[in-house]
Amino acid sequence: MDNKEINQGRRRFLTLATAGAGAVATAGAAVPFIASWFPSEKAKAAGASVEVDISKIEAGQMTITEWRGKPIFILNRTQQQLADLASVDGDLADPASEADQQPEYCKNPARAIKENIWVGIGICTHLGCSPTYRPDVGAADLGGGSWKGGFFCPCHGSKFDLAGRVYKGVPAPTNMVVPPYKYLSDAVILVGED
Ligand code: FES
Repeated sequence: MDNKEINQGRRRFLTLATAGAGAVATAGAAVPFIASWFPSEKAKAAGASVEVDISKIEAGQMTITEWRGKPIFILNRTQQQLADLASVDGDLADPASEADQQPEYCKNPARAIKENIWVGIGICTHLGCSPTYRPDVGAADLGGGSWKGGFFCPCHGSKFDLAGRVYKGVPAPTNMVVPPYKYLSDAVILVGED
């Protein structure tokens, strides 16, 4: 994942530049401009936005959907999980999400539009494995009492909290990426467009 993919300014530019081409505007900024302007059918299919009904995701549960061939984690955090986010700030490499790993509208403590629903690309920012959802607070293999739930990448041991923020001292250099998305209704989000 190229950080530029979520670069707001550049995406706005692309959106404007491709506005006349309709769905083409959803093509990411990570691909060369010419590819955005003349996408192949395959690229269009791969870049299509994805609607997800989130109404059945119970508190504390996560579902995985796919967008551009990547796993998209959608987690409905409990009130306790939300409350626990701040408690791990001191253990994180980028607790305030300073790095350009999310759209501007998700640069907040929950890294989300609606606080409880976290949407993230389920790919470790080290070498691209898909982390495992580990909500089990206090897990002995993940730091015991200091573990408040999050994501664990088994490939080389990177840890992320329940907002996809990376812990200090692990191989992954940055927080997990939050893709562009928006709510079509209270029950449905659209991943890939904002
Ligand atoms: S790919 Fe996740 S820790 Fe290396």
